[in-house]
This record gives sequence, structure tokens and C-alpha cells, in this order.
Amino acid sequence: MTATEIRQAFLDFFAAKGHTIVPSAPIVVKDDPTLMFTNAGMNQFKAIFLGEEPAKFPRVADTQRCLRVSGKHNDLEEVGIDTYHHTMFEMLGNWSFGDYFKKEAIDWSWELLTKVYKLDKDRLYVTYFEGDEKEGLAKDTETYDLWKQYVDEAHILPGNKKDNFWEMGETGPCGPCSEIHFDSRPDNERKEVSGAVLVNADHDQVIEIWNNVFMQFNRLKDSSLQPLPAQHVDTGMGFERLVRVLQGKTSNYDTDVFQPLIQFIAEKSGKKYNSAAKPGDADWSDAVAMRVMADHIRAISFAIADGLLPSNNKAGYVIRRILRRAVRYQYQYLGFKEPFLNTLVPLLADQFKGVFDELYSQKDFVQKVILEEEVSFLRTLGKGINILEGYIGYLNEINDFLDKQYGQAFENTSIIEVANYGTDSGDKVSKQPYHTADYLVNTNFVVLKLAQYISNYIDAPITGGFKTHELERIINDKKDYYTAYNSLKNYINKNNVRQLPSEIAFELSDTYGFPIDLTELMAREEEWTVDLEGFEEALQAQKSRSRLATTVNAGDWIVLRPGDNTLFIGYDEYQTNYTEILKYRKVVAQGKELYHIVLSETPFYAESGGQVGDTGAIVSEWYDEKTGPVSFQVIDTKKENGLTIHIAELMPIYSPEGEVLPPSQNRLPGGNYMAYINMGNRMMTNANHSATHLMHAALKEIVGGHVNQKGSLVNPDALRFDFSHFSKVSEDDLVAVERVVNMKIMENVPLNEQRNVRYQDAIASGVTALFGEKYGDYVRVITFDDNFSKELCGGTHVKATGEIGFFKILSESAVAAGVRRIEAITSFNSLNYIQEQSKMVQDVKDLLKNPNDITKSIADLLEENNRLKKAQEKAVLQKASGLKQGLADKAQVINGINFIAERVELPNADAIKNLAYQIKDIVSDLFLILAADIDGKPNLTVMLSENLVKEKGLNAGNIVRELAKEIQGGGGGQPFFATAGGKDVSGIHRALEKAKSFIA
Ligand code: ALA
Repeated sequence: MTATEIRQAFLDFFAAKGHTIVPSAPIVVKDDPTLMFTNAGMNQFKAIFLGEEPAKFPRVADTQRCLRVSGKHNDLEEVGIDTYHHTMFEMLGNWSFGDYFKKEAIDWSWELLTKVYKLDKDRLYVTYFEGDEKEGLAKDTETYDLWKQYVDEAHILPGNKKDNFWEMGETGPCGPCSEIHFDSRPDNERKEVSGAVLVNADHDQVIEIWNNVFMQFNRLKDSSLQPLPAQHVDTGMGFERLVRVLQGKTSNYDTDVFQPLIQFIAEKSGKKYNSAAKPGDADWSDAVAMRVMADHIRAISFAIADGLLPSNNKAGYVIRRILRRAVRYQYQYLGFKEPFLNTLVPLLADQFKGVFDELYSQKDFVQKVILEEEVSFLRTLGKGINILEGYIGYLNEINDFLDKQYGQAFENTSIIEVANYGTDSGDKVSKQPYHTADYLVNTNFVVLKLAQYISNYIDAPITGGFKTHELERIINDKKDYYTAYNSLKNYINKNNVRQLPSEIAFELSDTYGFPIDLTELMAREEEWTVDLEGFEEALQAQKSRSRLATTVNAGDWIVLRPGDNTLFIGYDEYQTNYTEILKYRKVVAQGKELYHIVLSETPFYAESGGQVGDTGAIVSEWYDEKTGPVSFQVIDTKKENGLTIHIAELMPIYSPEGEVLPPSQNRLPGGNYMAYINMGNRMMTNANHSATHLMHAALKEIVGGHVNQKGSLVNPDALRFDFSHFSKVSEDDLVAVERVVNMKIMENVPLNEQRNVRYQDAIASGVTALFGEKYGDYVRVITFDDNFSKELCGGTHVKATGEIGFFKILSESAVAAGVRRIEAITSFNSLNYIQEQSKMVQDVKDLLKNPNDITKSIADLLEENNRLKKAQEKAVLQKASGLKQGLADKAQVINGINFIAERVELPNADAIKNLAYQIKDIVSDLFLILAADIDGKPNLTVMLSENLVKEKGLNAGNIVRELAKEIQGGGGGQPFFATAGGKDVSGIHRALEKAKSFIA
């Protein structure tokens, strides 16, 4: 079977068992703070398991694109080295939401594997949960008994909590599980050692292919287990492993999932892929590099297709790290010194056509983003590699050098030779291109380390590039070479030689963009480690420098009304008079106590689709005679796993005497509440959101059909829209977009909002759907004019476009490779803006006395100003020349020196400098001091003939500094020419007098 057939057979099998086939969720998770990337098929059903959302179908199945590169499930380190871990992989899964349980799950998995896929029963092993006393969990005998009908007892193995109790993350749904493993070793090996002992033992030929989880608990923050409202089945089969097993291969990379990519890489690099290469073989690194690239391109491409861009924080940084890891492999091992990785995208897109079309429809964009990332990383990669390898090589060489010296007559070699090793020109280290010696000298890094450690017994002046005062001091203080050698030797052997110091790791990360795991990986290849602790410290120090740490500490939910869901009424209403708190928790964020509140009914829009969450108030309907109602100020509203969370501050309650009552008096939280949103903000937000839709449509019309939304922010103040486009949007196009949007506003197009359209119907009618968004089966469609703007959208909008008032673009810029950003304003904001601009123009006109053509009039002014400036400069220079001879004639001969000290009337320092040079040309043995008052500030200029500097050791800088004391100032310059400025004009004559006394 081909990979495609294998996938289809899975889906068909479960469809026939009454499962609805659903689409994969995006790989990037948006509304779950415990998760960055989808790491299991069940993620998109988390809220159903927890009982927070009803299930639409009792049984579903799908293939889910997953990424295990961060958090609890992280396989990144293994990828490429072994043959069965991946960053991105497909997880085939079937689910029961409170429907069937263990029996059916086990029956069907056996049926599928042995009857449909016809796997050899002898090679299959299954596991069950052995129980865990500490957690109070019993042994799963039910699972054991169910397997016994099909499987030989020797193939049914107990497993502990680590292997057989599956948890999504630190918190969340979990339960005992039963794994299915496959032993693909040759028969002779199987006879010798039973597969049973190799299950879950990291053997690359005895691998887990399927996991059946029986969801029964929710792991809470305090790590206790809370039973779920119902029991569910959650399964996950590693698609790439299944394909490998069915295609009879010993490596996932040998299947038709990866081979097209690997063969392409092999061909372009001019190397052969040897699947059987072992560590130590000549072609081992090549094979690893090819696997890494074939694997990583999948993770990177799908993350970008799902709306993520490589960046410097959070999920974006994880993707950037993976990308850089791949680039480093192709560069170092496969000889790709120019961007290459991106050229795999079209191949991958074709491969997934009809499975995950997100990539195919955006393949140009994805490729472009990867290309740009490659270009920027390649710029520094070579340098970084040299620094790292150079450092390692440098210390190794010092070590060798010491070995050679050890035991010889120490008197003959000064420790300075060691310290200077690699820096004196002519030795072999500094002849290496890009050698680190320079770098190390500049950062003084090695020197400091050596100096700290040598710390004793040296006496010799420092030569070469080592300028560290620390070392200088130590060296000048001490004597005994022998001890110094020993110290240095010990230092290198014991402490540091095989550990990369954090300073280098940090420099690589900070200046060269090396993710720390890349540095680690490279160090590991040299059998070095990295001082991670020190690195972490440096990173933290930098972080806390750049921003205040924002810590959020949330308690567990306190549930008042279990099982209920929030009814959102915010499309139609701004307030509700009857709502209850379903659950709440206290949260401490940046030292402030806040509440997270979930209501039974709410008008508050929770941040999503770029639109910010509503603000407003929640107030108890009941109130205390003495203390009044309980009220919360809602500062934001967010979604988390399907919950709408009002982030609120409890307003202080005052006693009749006006004192704040202690919190114990706060009657919280039962009873009826009213909830209002801030209407003004919402209406401005509506205007900005609707304008975003109009602009999106206008951009598609004017700039081109390739324009796709890549991000958006809509708040009461403005709108920000990021979209795919490869070059700057021209001024003309921006004007045109503005016109089209404003025309639609003037047409006052009414909003057409359809709340429950079948997704398929919506797509068929031509709506704009966004990549990377998870849409349900029923979607909301927002239309402004059937022929103009139709989008899938959950946000809030104006009732008719006239409410937007006026739309004005403020800026257009680049945000990332292939992504542009437009910022714009509407309504009162644009009105204010236009009024300010027009006032500014009026003010300028008034200043210019109302010219007909204001632009021409300013251009004329600038031109005239230029002309005048030039004429003025010329006049000043002429004046300076005129002074030249007069000053030269005033020279007094003192001790064979021609001394001139005069005050001149010149308007700027340039003119004085010019004059000084002219005098120097006609007067030899010159000692010249010119003083001037430039716009009320004293200025001193000293000019010396070169022979005075060289032969008499005079220094204009020193002289001017001394003289400047008289004018309360300071200055400096070169030995023959220096200037000073000051504060006290009245000191000018004192300075000139002092100069005379000097020379005398
Ligand atoms: N959620 C289970 C897993 O990821 C099936 O292994």
C-alpha cells in the first residue's frame, strides 16, 4: 500500500464504524495557554473531554498534523539521529465522546491492524496500565482481559505510569492507556531475544505504533486527579511508523512519505543517501543531515501555512530554531552554502495535496518566507561556526602547547608566550581564516579566564593583543613560572576545556542568532558541553533588563454550576441583566490580584480573530444594605479552551463610613449579576473590524488575488492588517484602496450576517476563509455586498458601512519576508486625524502668507536658503583668508618658536580651523593659539608645527586642555591640532595670557 492508501484505509475503516471524519486542526494552537503546537490528535477535543463543550458527533476520526518540539512531549533531539521520531507527524485517531469505551476501541484496533492492514500477529505486543499506588489508581485488568481474547499472554505487558498513563500536558485530560508495539526485527534476532523485553526500551526496530487512551481524569494544577464527567476514548497512531511497518522498512525515512524529499536533497547535494550508515561511518553525518532536512521542512512549512511566522518569541521562535537547525545541517554537511531548504516546499506541497491543502494553496508564500529566513541566517552562520570551532580549537592547541612545554626548563619560556599563543603574527593559529584569536582578544574573554586562573607568579610585560589590565596587573606582580604553568594546565584540564563558556554561547545566540540548542548540538559533535546554567543566567539578565517579568499564577477553578456553558449574546446585546457565575478562579498577575470569571450568559466578546476582548463591568443584582453590590471591572476578555474568561478586578467595597471593607466581607460569588460592556469602545472596534474586511477585499481587487490575511489587530483605536505580498504597495495603489473602501462606506452597505451556514456551503459560495484557523461545521459569514466582501468571521461589526465614517490609511510597511502591514483608522479617529492635518497645512499657509501653491513656495524657500548658506560660507572663508597675513605678521619669536596668540572674529569653528591650517602653511616652527567668541561661547584652537611635536614633545591636546580651564571648558584633538569649547567668554584673554606664560 502507498502512504496515501494507508491513510485512506484508516479513515474508511472508522467511517464504516459510525465515525464522522473531521478535518485536522491547525498545527499552531491559538487559545490554550498550556500548549503552543498541536501535539496530539485529541487537542482539538480537549474542551469536550473536560465537559466544557458538547460533542457535535459521538464518534469522530481524522488525521491530525502534530508537532512535538516543546513542552511535555518534545522529540526534537532525536530527530534525524534515529529513524522513528519526527518534529511534524500525522496522528491517525479515532474518538468516542462518552460513547463506546475500552471494548470497542480494542476490538477495532485489532481488527484494523490484523484484518485490514494484515500485520503479522506474532510481531504485535500490547500493553496495559499496571496501576499506581501513589495516585490511587488500580491496575487496568479490564484492558488485560479484553486483549486476552486476541493476543497471546506473553505479548500482553504491564506498563507503569510513565508509559501507560497518558497525559496531554502538566494539566488537562488524561487516563490509562494501552499501547500497541510492532517488532520488525528479522526472525533470527526475534528467536534469540523476545520482543517483549524490547518494548518501550528505545529499540529502533521495536516501536510503538498506536496508543489507545481511556480518558477518565482531569489533572489539576495541584497535580490531583479529578474524574471527568464522562468516559472517552482517544487514540493516536503514528502514521509515518505505520507506513514503515506496512511497507516492510526499518526506517520511517525509507517510506514513500520521506523518500521523495530525501532523494531530491541527495541529488542536489551530489551525495548518496545511505540509510544504513552508522555513527562513525564516513557518510553518517550526510545521512543525518538529509533526514533532519526532510523532517524539518515539514514542520516549518505547515507551521507557516497555518499562519505562524518565524520570529524571536514563543511559537515563532520555536519554528525559527527548527529552521536554523536544518540550515546548519545543509550548510555544514551537504555543502549548501546558498539557500536551499526552501526549494523543498513545492515538492512537499504536491505530496500533501488533497490531504492538507493549506500548504498547496500558499506554497509560493511559504517558500518565500523560508527563503528569506535562510538568507538572513546564512549571513551569520559561517561566522558563528568559525567562532565556535575556533574557540574549541584554540583551547585544544593551548593544551597541546603546554603538554610540549611541560617538564622543560621553565625559565626559558615566559607564561606570556602561552597567553600570546595564537595572537603573535606568524604562528599558525592566526593564519587561519576567521580565526578566533582576534575575536577572543577583542572580547578579552580567554585572557580574563586565564588571568583569573593563572592569578599567580608571573613577571613580564604584556605584548601582543592582550590589553587586559587585570592580566597586566597579575603579570607584573608575580614570579614563579612553574606554578603558573601548573595552574594553567590544571585549569584547562579540569575545568573548562571541554565546556563552552556561557559568554561564547550567549554571544553566538545574541549576535549570530544561534539558538542555544544548535550551539549545544555543535558542541556535542566535538564532545564538548555548554555552560547552560551560565547561559540561562545571561539570558534572564538580558530579559529582565529589557522588560519586567510578567508572571501569571492561576489557582484552580472554583465551580459553582458544573456542566453549563456560556451563552454569548454580544452580537445583539451590549448588556445582560440576568447572568450567573459558572466558575471563577483567582489569579495573580504582576503582583496584582485578578479574577477569571466564566458567566452563564455574556455580552463580552472574547479576544479572537484579531479583535480585542471587550471591557466593561459585572455587577451583582443583589446588594448588601451596608456594603452595596459586588462589582467587578472587566479589563479584558479572552478565550481559553472554549471558555469565555472575563479578566476582572474586584472593586473595593466601602463601608457606610467610606472605609474599604476587608475582602472577607465580599459576598462572592453566587446569585444574579448584570454584565455590561463598554459600548463606546465596542462601537469603535466594530467600525475598525468592518473596515478591515472592506480593506481586505479592496486589496484583493487592487493589489491582487494573492493577498491573504496573515494577521490582524482590531481595537477601538485603530486597525492593523498583515497580508501576504512580496513588495511595497505603491502609493497609487494605497490611494486606490482608500478610495474603494470609502466608496463602500458611502454606499452605506448593510451588514448581512449569517450565523449558521454549513462550512461547505460557505466555501462553495466563495467566502474568504483564513489559513490556520479552525472552523466548525457551522460557520458565521459576514457579507458587505455579495459581490464585494464575504468572510468567515466571528467578530463584531457595524450594522451598515456608513457607521465607519471615514477610512484613512496611516502607514504601509514590511513586517517579515513576504508580509506587508497596513495601519489605518476610522470614524472619530480619522476625523480627528484629518482635522489635525488640515490645521497643520493651514498654519503653514498662514506662515507663508497664503501662497497659491504651497509646495512650490516651500521648495523656493529651501532653495533660497541653500543659496544664502553657500554665499555666507564663502564670505566667511574670504574673511579668514584676509586675516591670515595679519596674524602671521604678529608672530613673536620666543626660544626659536614662532608664537601667535590672538583673538579672531569668525562665526564658526570650521572657519577658524581653515585659518589655522593656512597660517601653518606660511609660518614655520609655529605655536598658534586662536580664540573666538562663537555665538556667545568661547572657543580655543591650538595648532603646532610637526617638528615641535616630534622634536620638542609638545602636544596640542594637552595644551588646549590646560588652557580650557580658563574658559570653564574642555577639549582635545591630535598632537598638532586641538580645539576646546567652554562656558565663560570672559576667560578668553586669560587663556591667551596663560599660553604666553607657557611658552616662556
Ligand atoms: N493522545 C494519545 C497520544 O497522543 C493518543 O498518544
